[in-house]
Amino acid sequence: MSKKVKIVVLVSGGGTNLQALIDAQNSGIITNGKIVCVISSKPGAYALTRAENAGIDAYVVSKKECKSQADFEEKIEAILENKGAELIILAGFMSILSADFTKKHENRIINVHPALIPSFCGAGYYGLKVHEAALAYGVKVTGATVHFVNEIPDGGKIIMQKAVKIHDGDTPEKLQKRVMKQAEWKILPASAELVCKKILNGEV
Ligand code: GAR
Repeated sequence: MSKKVKIVVLVSGGGTNLQALIDAQNSGIITNGKIVCVISSKPGAYALTRAENAGIDAYVVSKKECKSQADFEEKIEAILENKGAELIILAGFMSILSADFTKKHENRIINVHPALIPSFCGAGYYGLKVHEAALAYGVKVTGATVHFVNEIPDGGKIIMQKAVKIHDGDTPEKLQKRVMKQAEWKILPASAELVCKKILNGEV
């Protein structure tokens, strides 16, 4: 068997993007990487059940129960080291990582954001809030972005983007669903595969 990049997925919620990664791994869209574990910042996140159902090790590092950001990140680091992580995927991970953490893992962390960066991104723009902001602004097209993670929230190099049309009568919930289905669940697995391939080829 050829070498695969060891992927650790960080989550905080429902985990539909994690599911898209698992499905892509099972269907052969992701061939150059393998999810070795899932870490949730929230106990009880449904993403943990998705990992369990797929037979993937899952851990909780509860942000709330950590003394500080450093403590939170140390606990995550310990799992990453133990698992030999080579690529970290933020899939609905609702915590901003410190500059120390992102520098240590330069070009080894990717994130999916539910808008076309540089619109509706940065600190405070996460989950439904992104779609509320897009509708309030009145844009006619939104979408999703997968990017490398650096010290600037949503500021790293863009890997892939996909546009999604806004419809009359959209609510933030309806728009979130469409952006996930038409964009996030496609470009996140595709980007994961692309980055894994580049890591194996020493291109990134
Ligand atoms: C997704 O829409 C993801 O792009 C977004 O949260 C949702 C998580 O859903 N992430 C962010 O806003 C991060 N800035 P999921 O748990 O079902 O994948």
